[in-house]
Amino acid sequence: MREANLFSQMEAMLGEGPVYNPPTNSLYWTDILKKQLHCCSLDEKSIKTIQTDRHIGAFSFVDEETLLVAADNGFSYFNMRNETFTFIADPESALPSNRFNDGKCDAKGRFWAGTMEFTPASPNGSLYRLDGNHLITKTASDLIISNGLAWNRANTKMYHVDSGRNSIYEYDFQLESGSIHNRRLLRTFEGSDGTPDGIAIDSADCLYIAMWGGKKVIHFNPATREILEEIHVPAPHVTSIAFGGRDFQTLFITTARDGLSAEQLHRYPLSGSIFEIDVPVAGLPLHTFKPEERKASS
Ligand code: BGC
Ligand code: CA
Repeated sequence: MREANLFSQMEAMLGEGPVYNPPTNSLYWTDILKKQLHCCSLDEKSIKTIQTDRHIGAFSFVDEETLLVAADNGFSYFNMRNETFTFIADPESALPSNRFNDGKCDAKGRFWAGTMEFTPASPNGSLYRLDGNHLITKTASDLIISNGLAWNRANTKMYHVDSGRNSIYEYDFQLESGSIHNRRLLRTFEGSDGTPDGIAIDSADCLYIAMWGGKKVIHFNPATREILEEIHVPAPHVTSIAFGGRDFQTLFITTARDGLSAEQLHRYPLSGSIFEIDVPVAGLPLHTFKPEERKASS
Protein backbone atom coordinates (compact mmCIF):
# COMPACT_ATOMS: atom_id res chain seq x y z
CA MET A 1 0.00 0.00 0.00
CA ARG A 2 1.38 3.44 -0.87
CA GLU A 3 1.53 6.04 1.88
CA ALA A 4 0.36 9.64 1.49
CA ASN A 5 2.97 12.31 2.27
CA LEU A 6 2.50 15.19 4.64
CA PHE A 7 1.75 18.38 2.69
CA SER A 8 0.99 20.77 5.52
CA GLN A 9 0.92 20.06 9.22
CA MET A 10 -2.34 21.41 10.64
CA GLU A 11 -4.59 20.74 13.59
CA ALA A 12 -7.93 20.91 11.80
CA MET A 13 -10.87 19.76 13.88
CA LEU A 14 -12.75 18.97 10.67
CA GLY A 15 -10.64 19.73 7.61
CA GLU A 16 -12.89 19.41 4.56
CA GLY A 17 -13.83 20.58 1.09
CA PRO A 18 -10.41 20.95 -0.60
CA VAL A 19 -10.49 23.03 -3.79
CA TYR A 20 -7.47 23.63 -6.01
CA ASN A 21 -7.45 27.04 -7.70
CA PRO A 22 -5.42 26.89 -10.95
CA PRO A 23 -4.85 30.65 -11.53
CA THR A 24 -2.97 31.03 -8.24
CA ASN A 25 -1.67 27.44 -7.96
CA SER A 26 -3.12 27.22 -4.48
CA LEU A 27 -5.22 24.88 -2.39
CA TYR A 28 -8.19 26.07 -0.33
CA TRP A 29 -10.03 24.11 2.32
CA THR A 30 -12.42 24.61 5.22
CA ASP A 31 -12.22 23.62 8.87
CA ILE A 32 -15.95 23.23 9.48
CA LEU A 33 -15.82 23.12 13.27
CA LYS A 34 -13.24 25.91 13.73
CA LYS A 35 -15.20 28.03 11.20
CA GLN A 36 -11.99 28.72 9.29
CA LEU A 37 -11.04 28.91 5.63
CA HIS A 38 -7.43 28.10 4.73
CA CYS A 39 -5.48 28.83 1.58
CA CYS A 40 -2.04 27.46 0.79
CA SER A 41 0.06 28.66 -2.13
CA LEU A 42 1.84 25.64 -3.61
CA ASP A 43 4.65 27.90 -4.83
CA GLU A 44 5.36 29.55 -1.49
CA LYS A 45 3.90 26.91 0.83
CA SER A 46 2.50 29.77 2.91
CA ILE A 47 -0.87 29.35 4.61
CA LYS A 48 -3.42 32.10 5.03
CA THR A 49 -6.27 31.51 7.48
CA ILE A 50 -9.53 33.44 7.53
CA GLN A 51 -11.61 33.17 10.69
CA THR A 52 -15.30 33.35 9.80
CA ASP A 53 -18.44 33.39 11.92
CA ARG A 54 -20.02 30.23 10.51
CA HIS A 55 -19.56 26.52 9.85
CA ILE A 56 -18.69 26.38 6.16
CA GLY A 57 -19.32 22.85 4.89
CA ALA A 58 -18.28 23.40 1.29
CA PHE A 59 -17.53 26.13 -1.24
CA SER A 60 -16.83 26.72 -4.92
CA PHE A 61 -15.07 29.57 -6.66
CA VAL A 62 -17.19 32.16 -8.42
CA ASP A 63 -14.34 34.46 -9.46
CA GLU A 64 -10.85 35.12 -8.14
CA GLU A 65 -12.05 36.94 -5.03
CA THR A 66 -15.47 35.37 -4.47
CA LEU A 67 -16.57 32.01 -3.16
CA LEU A 68 -20.03 30.51 -3.08
CA VAL A 69 -20.32 28.89 0.37
CA ALA A 70 -22.78 26.47 1.97
CA ALA A 71 -22.80 26.84 5.76
CA ASP A 72 -25.01 26.34 8.79
CA ASN A 73 -27.03 29.37 7.70
CA GLY A 74 -27.48 28.43 4.07
CA PHE A 75 -25.91 29.72 0.86
CA SER A 76 -23.91 32.95 0.65
CA TYR A 77 -21.23 34.59 -1.41
CA PHE A 78 -18.00 35.26 0.45
CA ASN A 79 -15.73 38.04 -0.69
CA MET A 80 -12.21 37.00 0.31
CA ARG A 81 -10.74 40.47 -0.13
CA ASN A 82 -12.91 42.25 2.42
CA GLU A 83 -14.03 39.04 4.21
CA THR A 84 -17.75 39.74 3.95
CA PHE A 85 -20.67 37.41 3.28
CA THR A 86 -23.64 38.27 1.04
CA PHE A 87 -26.61 36.06 1.90
CA ILE A 88 -28.38 34.19 -0.91
CA ALA A 89 -30.91 31.84 0.72
CA ASP A 90 -31.27 29.18 3.40
CA PRO A 91 -33.49 26.25 2.41
CA GLU A 92 -33.28 24.88 5.96
CA SER A 93 -33.88 27.98 8.07
CA ALA A 94 -36.56 25.97 9.89
CA LEU A 95 -34.03 23.23 10.82
CA PRO A 96 -31.54 24.87 13.24
CA SER A 97 -29.97 21.54 14.20
CA ASN A 98 -28.85 20.97 10.58
CA ARG A 99 -25.84 22.36 8.74
CA PHE A 100 -24.56 22.11 5.20
CA ASN A 101 -21.85 19.54 4.64
CA ASP A 102 -20.12 18.61 1.35
CA GLY A 103 -20.90 20.36 -1.95
CA LYS A 104 -19.62 20.82 -5.50
CA CYS A 105 -20.52 22.48 -8.82
CA ASP A 106 -21.69 20.53 -11.84
CA ALA A 107 -20.45 21.21 -15.38
CA LYS A 108 -23.12 23.90 -15.91
CA GLY A 109 -21.94 25.80 -12.84
CA ARG A 110 -24.88 24.83 -10.59
CA PHE A 111 -23.88 24.23 -6.97
CA TRP A 112 -24.97 21.00 -5.28
CA ALA A 113 -24.71 20.64 -1.49
CA GLY A 114 -26.32 18.49 1.15
CA THR A 115 -27.12 18.74 4.82
CA MET A 116 -26.82 16.73 8.00
CA GLU A 117 -27.60 17.22 11.66
CA PHE A 118 -24.75 18.71 13.72
CA THR A 119 -24.96 15.49 15.71
CA PRO A 120 -26.25 13.06 13.11
CA ALA A 121 -28.95 10.80 14.46
CA SER A 122 -31.87 10.79 12.02
CA PRO A 123 -32.28 10.90 8.24
CA ASN A 124 -33.08 14.62 8.31
CA GLY A 125 -30.54 15.63 5.67
CA SER A 126 -31.32 16.63 2.09
CA LEU A 127 -29.43 17.38 -1.08
CA TYR A 128 -30.02 20.72 -2.82
CA ARG A 129 -29.13 22.24 -6.16
CA LEU A 130 -28.57 25.98 -6.31
CA ASP A 131 -28.93 27.26 -9.87
CA GLY A 132 -27.27 30.35 -11.32
CA ASN A 133 -30.53 32.29 -10.91
CA HIS A 134 -30.46 31.47 -7.17
CA LEU A 135 -33.41 29.08 -7.37
CA ILE A 136 -32.99 26.12 -5.02
CA THR A 137 -34.29 22.62 -5.75
CA LYS A 138 -34.35 19.79 -3.22
CA THR A 139 -33.03 16.84 -5.22
CA ALA A 140 -32.86 14.13 -2.52
CA SER A 141 -34.05 13.72 1.07
CA ASP A 142 -33.98 11.10 3.84
CA LEU A 143 -30.17 11.41 4.10
CA ILE A 144 -28.27 10.90 7.33
CA ILE A 145 -24.92 12.55 6.40
CA SER A 146 -24.98 13.99 2.88
CA ASN A 147 -21.38 13.89 1.75
CA GLY A 148 -19.13 13.63 -1.36
CA LEU A 149 -20.37 14.39 -4.89
CA ALA A 150 -18.87 13.71 -8.32
CA TRP A 151 -19.92 13.44 -11.96
CA ASN A 152 -18.49 11.27 -14.71
CA ARG A 153 -16.75 12.93 -17.67
CA ALA A 154 -19.70 12.51 -20.01
CA ASN A 155 -21.98 14.12 -17.40
CA THR A 156 -24.43 11.23 -17.56
CA LYS A 157 -23.88 9.96 -14.01
CA MET A 158 -23.71 11.54 -10.59
CA TYR A 159 -22.21 9.93 -7.49
CA HIS A 160 -23.33 10.85 -3.99
CA VAL A 161 -22.28 9.56 -0.57
CA ASP A 162 -24.51 9.14 2.47
CA SER A 163 -21.93 8.55 5.21
CA GLY A 164 -24.67 7.77 7.70
CA ARG A 165 -25.48 4.72 5.60
CA ASN A 166 -21.85 3.91 4.71
CA SER A 167 -22.91 4.04 1.08
CA ILE A 168 -22.16 5.56 -2.31
CA TYR A 169 -25.08 5.91 -4.72
CA GLU A 170 -25.11 6.34 -8.47
CA TYR A 171 -27.75 8.36 -10.34
CA ASP A 172 -28.49 9.03 -13.98
CA PHE A 173 -27.72 12.71 -14.50
CA GLN A 174 -29.17 15.04 -17.12
CA LEU A 175 -26.78 17.89 -17.72
CA GLU A 176 -29.21 20.25 -19.49
CA SER A 177 -31.86 20.19 -16.78
CA GLY A 178 -29.63 19.29 -13.84
CA SER A 179 -32.00 16.51 -12.80
CA ILE A 180 -31.09 13.16 -11.25
CA HIS A 181 -33.00 9.90 -11.62
CA ASN A 182 -32.87 6.20 -10.92
CA ARG A 183 -30.80 6.10 -7.74
CA ARG A 184 -29.00 2.79 -7.15
CA LEU A 185 -26.56 1.62 -4.52
CA LEU A 186 -23.03 1.55 -5.91
CA ARG A 187 -21.16 0.26 -2.89
CA THR A 188 -21.42 -0.07 0.87
CA PHE A 189 -18.34 -0.25 3.08
CA GLU A 190 -17.97 -1.84 6.48
CA GLY A 191 -15.55 -2.71 9.25
CA SER A 192 -11.96 -1.48 9.06
CA ASP A 193 -12.57 0.18 5.68
CA GLY A 194 -14.32 2.95 7.59
CA THR A 195 -17.03 5.22 6.23
CA PRO A 196 -17.02 6.84 2.78
CA ASP A 197 -16.75 10.63 3.03
CA GLY A 198 -15.51 13.03 0.31
CA ILE A 199 -15.03 11.78 -3.26
CA ALA A 200 -13.18 12.96 -6.37
CA ILE A 201 -13.15 11.51 -9.87
CA ASP A 202 -10.18 11.15 -12.23
CA SER A 203 -10.23 11.63 -15.99
CA ALA A 204 -10.70 7.86 -16.47
CA ASP A 205 -13.98 8.07 -14.47
CA CYS A 206 -12.56 6.27 -11.44
CA LEU A 207 -13.39 7.56 -7.98
CA TYR A 208 -11.10 8.37 -5.10
CA ILE A 209 -12.97 7.91 -1.83
CA ALA A 210 -11.82 9.39 1.49
CA MET A 211 -12.46 6.80 4.22
CA TRP A 212 -13.35 8.32 7.62
CA GLY A 213 -12.17 5.86 10.25
CA GLY A 214 -10.31 3.85 7.60
CA LYS A 215 -6.94 5.71 7.55
CA LYS A 216 -7.03 5.56 3.78
CA VAL A 217 -8.21 6.74 0.41
CA ILE A 218 -9.66 4.09 -1.90
CA HIS A 219 -9.32 4.32 -5.70
CA PHE A 220 -12.42 2.63 -7.06
CA ASN A 221 -13.69 1.87 -10.55
CA PRO A 222 -17.49 2.35 -10.47
CA ALA A 223 -17.94 0.53 -13.80
CA THR A 224 -16.33 -2.72 -12.62
CA ARG A 225 -16.70 -2.09 -8.85
CA GLU A 226 -13.06 -3.02 -8.54
CA ILE A 227 -10.74 -1.43 -5.97
CA LEU A 228 -7.70 -0.22 -7.93
CA GLU A 229 -5.54 1.02 -5.08
CA GLU A 230 -5.63 1.87 -1.39
CA ILE A 231 -3.54 4.79 -0.17
CA HIS A 232 -2.68 4.77 3.51
CA VAL A 233 -3.01 8.06 5.40
CA PRO A 234 -1.42 8.39 8.86
CA ALA A 235 -4.62 9.94 10.27
CA PRO A 236 -7.72 7.86 11.03
CA HIS A 237 -10.34 10.41 10.02
CA VAL A 238 -9.75 11.01 6.31
CA THR A 239 -12.40 13.47 5.15
CA SER A 240 -11.98 14.59 1.56
CA ILE A 241 -9.75 14.81 -1.51
CA ALA A 242 -9.11 17.09 -4.47
CA PHE A 243 -6.84 16.95 -7.50
CA GLY A 244 -4.37 19.76 -7.95
CA GLY A 245 -0.95 20.89 -8.98
CA ARG A 246 -0.31 22.27 -12.46
CA ASP A 247 -0.82 18.81 -14.00
CA PHE A 248 -3.73 17.76 -11.75
CA GLN A 249 -1.79 14.67 -10.80
CA THR A 250 -1.48 15.42 -7.12
CA LEU A 251 -4.26 14.25 -4.85
CA PHE A 252 -4.62 16.50 -1.78
CA ILE A 253 -6.21 14.86 1.24
CA THR A 254 -7.88 16.58 4.22
CA THR A 255 -8.25 14.99 7.67
CA ALA A 256 -9.92 15.68 11.01
CA ARG A 257 -9.13 15.50 14.73
CA ASP A 258 -12.83 15.50 15.56
CA GLY A 259 -14.04 12.26 17.11
CA LEU A 260 -10.59 10.88 17.96
CA SER A 261 -9.71 9.79 21.49
CA ALA A 262 -6.68 11.18 23.35
CA GLU A 263 -4.97 7.86 22.70
CA GLN A 264 -5.65 8.05 18.94
CA LEU A 265 -4.44 11.66 18.79
CA HIS A 266 -1.25 10.58 20.55
CA ARG A 267 -0.77 7.70 18.12
CA TYR A 268 -1.67 9.78 15.02
CA PRO A 269 -0.29 13.23 15.85
CA LEU A 270 -0.64 14.41 12.24
CA SER A 271 -4.43 14.13 12.43
CA GLY A 272 -5.95 17.34 11.07
CA SER A 273 -3.11 17.83 8.55
CA ILE A 274 -3.23 17.96 4.75
CA PHE A 275 -1.56 15.09 2.90
CA GLU A 276 -0.65 14.60 -0.75
CA ILE A 277 0.16 11.80 -3.16
CA ASP A 278 0.92 11.59 -6.88
CA VAL A 279 -1.65 9.68 -8.89
CA PRO A 280 -1.29 7.84 -12.21
CA VAL A 281 -4.31 9.38 -13.96
CA ALA A 282 -4.88 13.12 -13.69
CA GLY A 283 -8.03 14.71 -12.36
CA LEU A 284 -9.87 17.64 -13.91
CA PRO A 285 -10.31 21.19 -12.57
CA LEU A 286 -13.41 21.66 -10.43
CA HIS A 287 -16.22 23.67 -11.97
CA THR A 288 -16.94 27.16 -10.69
CA PHE A 289 -20.36 28.59 -9.78
CA LYS A 290 -21.94 30.56 -12.63
CA PRO A 291 -24.40 33.15 -11.35
CA GLU A 292 -26.83 34.60 -13.87
CA GLU A 293 -26.63 37.98 -12.24
CA ARG A 294 -25.04 39.00 -9.02
CA LYS A 295 -25.28 42.05 -6.87
CA ALA A 296 -21.87 43.36 -5.83
CA SER A 297 -20.93 42.26 -2.31
CA SER A 298 -20.67 45.13 0.08
C1 BGC B 1 -18.88 15.33 8.30
C2 BGC B 1 -18.63 14.86 9.68
C3 BGC B 1 -18.86 13.36 9.75
C4 BGC B 1 -17.96 12.69 8.75
C5 BGC B 1 -18.00 11.21 8.72
C6 BGC B 1 -17.99 14.59 7.38
O1 BGC B 1 -18.19 15.01 6.07
O2 BGC B 1 -18.67 16.72 8.17
O3 BGC B 1 -19.42 15.54 10.59
O4 BGC B 1 -18.64 12.88 11.04
O5 BGC B 1 -18.23 13.20 7.46
O6 BGC B 1 -19.15 10.67 8.26
CA1 CA C 1 -17.13 15.39 3.94
